[in-house]
Amino acid sequence: MKRFAPILLAIGVLWGTASQALELEQRRTEAMLQRMCARCHAVGRTGASPNELAPPFRYLGENKIYDPDFTQRLQDGYSSIHRSMPTARFGRDDAEAVVSYLRAIQEPRRPK
Ligand code: HEC
Repeated sequence: MKRFAPILLAIGVLWGTASQALELEQRRTEAMLQRMCARCHAVGRTGASPNELAPPFRYLGENKIYDPDFTQRLQDGYSSIHRSMPTARFGRDDAEAVVSYLRAIQEPRRPK
């Protein structure tokens, strides 16, 4: 058993580092969306949208964010998502980070 201790320790450390990296990435993405979108949308897990026509990101719904075109549309510029917006494009990595952030915060349905 003693022989396995260093291995278990290494697995523990790697596991911890991986989940920290993920958390850091999510916080970075959230901060980016706060800068770019929070003037209209509720970005995080709580709160109402400042612009009441703009859906809070946590209620976009699985159909939308699992649509394979969605990542592409973020890269093409989100004026292709809603026309009222000035164009802002995400690079491929950022677009993927945005999609995985949105997937992580989705809630099943909007409360009445
Ligand atoms: C000036 C206000 C404003 C800003 C800033 C804004 N949005 Fe929106 N957004 C809206 C409004 C209003 C709607 C709902 C009406 C519509 O779909 O055009 C919307 C809808 C959406 C939808 C759902 C569209 C659909 O097809 O159902 C997505 C996704 C979205 N916005 C993403 C973003 C992202 C990502 C950002 C930041 C990069 C952003 N928005 C910034 C106003 C805004």
